[in-house]
Amino acid sequence: MSIEVKNLSFSYEDNPILDDVSFCVKSGEFVGIAGPNGSGKSTLAKCLNGIFSPTKGEVFVDGISVKDRSKQWIIRQTVGLVFQNPDNQLVASVVEEDVAFGPENLGIPPSIIRERVQYALERVGLINERKRLVATLSGGQKQRVAIAGILAMRPKYIVLDEPTSMLDPVGRKEVLSTVLQLKEEGVGIVYITHHLEELVYADKIMLLYKGRIFKEGSARDILTDEDTLKKIGLDIPEIPALALRLKKFDVAFDNIPLTIEEMVNAILD
Ligand SMILES: Nc1ncnc2c1ncn2[C@@H]1O[C@H](COP(=O)(O)OP(=O)(O)OP(=O)(O)O)[C@@H](O)[C@H]1O
Ligand SMILES: [Mg+2]
Repeated sequence: MSIEVKNLSFSYEDNPILDDVSFCVKSGEFVGIAGPNGSGKSTLAKCLNGIFSPTKGEVFVDGISVKDRSKQWIIRQTVGLVFQNPDNQLVASVVEEDVAFGPENLGIPPSIIRERVQYALERVGLINERKRLVATLSGGQKQRVAIAGILAMRPKYIVLDEPTSMLDPVGRKEVLSTVLQLKEEGVGIVYITHHLEELVYADKIMLLYKGRIFKEGSARDILTDEDTLKKIGLDIPEIPALALRLKKFDVAFDNIPLTIEEMVNAILD
């Protein structure tokens, strides 16, 4: 079971935005996508659940083409999308009502909705806030309510388009650890970000540049490749940047570390 993107091209009117993009996201896999402004990341996100239909090529969700309009609803439920600004995604004033909104629209019976709301709020660590007014939550909590709203639809994949860019560091950590936990539970994750340090736990990373995949590889391949990142205007994360500088002073590393823990272990070794 996977989202399979095959030679996907997409144009707005005559304006080509995505060009021959291919990749695959399996259950329980965390795929990171990074690229500079205007490289086509959000457009790609919207192609993954059929909001946009490929101009050329295909996107298959568990074998169903997103071009098949008769399967639109099942595809939208299977692939949930989380956007940048939680305020634009939340519709109800009370947390649990907001989370119930999606399943209510699917016509799911109330007893099952209650179970789903409970499940989703537990997953994002907000079960004790279920009666709170959305307006009183922090940015990170709001984004987690938005994720809970998606989870209540029981998606198999979640695509997050810069979900932390409007959040403070605490909110960022909350959202990221929620996403990593979902991966552990078998949800396929596509995580789009400018903050490359958020991708250290990705199973693979794709760099998007001018609508094409510029490079793809493991987190270590991509996040330590300073030259490639520089070429497309992205900043290497702090820990690998520090390691590469230390290397110039003859500090030896078997592997360039990505996290503080790896850095500490490498130095103490
Ligand atoms: N509705 C639209 N009609 C025409 N062109 C569009 C539309 N939306 C986006 N574009 C263009 O498509 C290109 C890719 O936009 P997209 O939003 O996918 O990039 P992005 O990588 O998500 O950028 P950002 O980092 O700023 O979010 C840009 O050149 C943009 O101007
Ligand atoms: Mg975008």
